Amino acid sequence: TFSIQADKPTAKVSPNMWGVFFEDINLGADGGIYAELIKNRSFEFAQPLMGWKKIGETAPEGTFLVLNQKEKTNNPRFLRINRLTGAEKLGLQNEGFRGMGIKQGLRYDFSVFYRQIKPGVKLHIELVDTTGTIIGKGEFSPDGEQNTWKKQQVSFHATQTELKAKLNIWFEGKGIIDLDMISLFPEDTWKKRPGGLRADMVQLLADMKPGFIRFPGGCIVEGRELATRFQWKKTVGPIEDRQLIINRWNTEFKHRPAPDYYQTFGLGFFEYFQLAEDIGAEPLPILNCGMACQFNTAELVPIDELDEYVQDALDLIEFANGDVTTKWGKLRASMGHPNPFNLKMLGVGNENWGPQYIERLEIFKKALNDRYPNIKIVASSGTDPDGERFDFLNQRLRAMKVDFIDEHYYRSPEWFLSNTSRYDSYDRNGSKIFAGEYAGHPKQVEDGPSENNWSAAIAEAAFLTGLERNADVVEMASYAPLFAHVDGWQWAPDLIWVNNLHAYGTPNYQVQKLYATNKGTDVIPILSDGQLVSGRDSLYASAVIDHNQKEIIVKIVNHNAQPVEGMFNIQVKGKLASNGSHTFLTATNLNAINTIDQPDQVSPQTRPIAIEGKKLNISLVPYSFHVVKIKMQ
Ligand code: AHR
Repeated sequence: TFSIQADKPTAKVSPNMWGVFFEDINLGADGGIYAELIKNRSFEFAQPLMGWKKIGETAPEGTFLVLNQKEKTNNPRFLRINRLTGAEKLGLQNEGFRGMGIKQGLRYDFSVFYRQIKPGVKLHIELVDTTGTIIGKGEFSPDGEQNTWKKQQVSFHATQTELKAKLNIWFEGKGIIDLDMISLFPEDTWKKRPGGLRADMVQLLADMKPGFIRFPGGCIVEGRELATRFQWKKTVGPIEDRQLIINRWNTEFKHRPAPDYYQTFGLGFFEYFQLAEDIGAEPLPILNCGMACQFNTAELVPIDELDEYVQDALDLIEFANGDVTTKWGKLRASMGHPNPFNLKMLGVGNENWGPQYIERLEIFKKALNDRYPNIKIVASSGTDPDGERFDFLNQRLRAMKVDFIDEHYYRSPEWFLSNTSRYDSYDRNGSKIFAGEYAGHPKQVEDGPSENNWSAAIAEAAFLTGLERNADVVEMASYAPLFAHVDGWQWAPDLIWVNNLHAYGTPNYQVQKLYATNKGTDVIPILSDGQLVSGRDSLYASAVIDHNQKEIIVKIVNHNAQPVEGMFNIQVKGKLASNGSHTFLTATNLNAINTIDQPDQVSPQTRPIAIEGKKLNISLVPYSFHVVKIKMQ
């Protein structure tokens, strides 16, 4: 029997308790949520023609030249097509990011920056399927002034759906033309924004109603070395001026997308803020603290050269919140958002540690607190929640009175099950916890990923009862990483998997979503024999009231191989409605997963339940997670 004490709230639930962690890992941004279909559109990858192939007849020497024009500082390279005789059938093919996902009947917008050196070259654009059959085409007659760069677009519709299409560009006529920023976008981007994001992927985020979105990572914030750290200023303004860098995840792991993994920053800081606003999430940017990844080079900026990094943080707040007369507020307005983004918190460093981190964080904290006292600071903590380094760091961060400590844990499902009481005895005063990256990692399938199976998801569901119960300490939580492409990933498990056409939520996604969409406003005790329900008899539970919806929400995990008859007594001042709803997640076995072909194998079911006075009975099937909602009258 469970006793729910709805008349004794113990803590407030933060309105942005359950959020998402975004990083460009596993083709999360380029090749993922950023809907650009052309790989290496500006020829700036290490090898300028990476992703491109010459097609057609043998080109005479000097037909295709990669030129490098220094005054185009951020995007110096472009391609010169030198058709001297105009006789040969010559073209270029782009392979996309593991191919291009194309949908029948949809409009595709091809655009290019060009400069006619000697007018006379016409472009024919073709989408082809894996057999080479044309599934969409357009033509393009440059009409720009000679020797002047111009952007032009041509749109066409696809005649067939194809998972791994490619794009051909054929050149006809005699002349010389320069090309750069060759781009192809589908019309069905999120909110139909030209050059925007993949709508199905954003929709999955929006459906979670996340309280915050942390961006842009993860380790990419740090970079392998400082030169390739994430610098937000290089990701805003016109996209043709955004300077790409190699992705820190380019050369990692067995199933890596390397060596062609770059950050082109078409999804830059403006777009991240816009995404946060679109899905109703608080933006939580994380910035480099003057330290490269400590798992790699551990390169440090000397303390007396930290100013530039601190200034980046101050300027970011101005970019997000400053009025249009400020330098960075003006840039935001020029990009289409004169109103502030209302940034409230900022992370300094990701998984940085040691006295070097504390030293740098102190400088950031002073500068940020002095200038923007209302901006909350999220400080980074370690990755080993059972280790001494973690304890040492947390003590130092608490002593500094940082607003949030960002704790990460990638552990076995067993660890999650045995740590549901982790925050029960945490210090209730001072710094709050941001559980910024966590995921249950089941044993790796031979030569494959560690899977997003039900054993991990149900263990996370149990662990999250502990976070919810301790909502006075834990104010934000997010699973990580967020996205992975089935043909290009280096880290698993991940919350959402995609191919070029489809996206699905894992069982872990379903768990996160059930928490995020049932977060309530106040924690209330749920007890069994007067004790917390936190692992005894393999049961885990937490409960909240939602004062806005006037309902009690109970979450309970049965981690037994047998069903458990749950009897609930509800202590509440007023009356309860006679019916409520019971949503549950379970699976045929602990190894069950969702896939592209079977995305709903582990997905929630909801049914009505009867409440007798202040009692209700629910059968908790083996290995199941339940969300029970009861209306208060
Ligand atoms: O989520 C994957 C990586 O795990 C993140 O980039 C990093 O912060 C952590 O080590």
